[in-house]
Amino acid sequence: MVASVPADPPGGEDVARRVETRWAIVMVGIVALLVAMVIFTGLHWATMPPSRVETIDPTTLHVAGEFVESNLGSAAEADGSVTVRIVGQQYSFTPQCIVVPAKTPVTFRVTSADVIHGMIITGTNINSMVSPGFISTFKTTFDKPGDHLMPCHEFCGTGHEGMWANVKVVEPDAFAKLVGPARRASCDL
Ligand code: CUA
Repeated sequence: MVASVPADPPGGEDVARRVETRWAIVMVGIVALLVAMVIFTGLHWATMPPSRVETIDPTTLHVAGEFVESNLGSAAEADGSVTVRIVGQQYSFTPQCIVVPAKTPVTFRVTSADVIHGMIITGTNINSMVSPGFISTFKTTFDKPGDHLMPCHEFCGTGHEGMWANVKVVEPDAFAKLVGPARRASCDL
């Protein structure tokens, strides 16, 4: 004997269609949101070089403003952090040696006076392009004292392989002793 098939509840097809439509709208909405995020972040990042940057006129670097020679190197800030300003040029970094304290927030601000350079601090994840016209800014905290090399890693001309600086990370007390009345510190070589 054939078992009798239970009848669909009244309106079951309508309910299923409504639920499916609702889920379809939700899914399309999620996909549209993700695509919008991809487009926004893509365009946003495409408008500037890597790392957070500000622009600066490379032709007047040495004359006035933040990157005049007397303002380069490590500066102790009122909040206890340290700001390091560096200029890259064919074929050196100024200053040639950078001293920073360990266990202290350090902000690097770097720009180029001529062509595109790069900088990487060995043993850390600090790695940035250094482009004329832009200020590469990044923040870090060194865990422990140590000496690091900071080579240029972007081919910038015949002297490229000779372009590097030293980064000395010292204990905070030792750094405090190096800080002079102008709230700056330089390598005590
Ligand atoms: Cu500067 Cu390579």
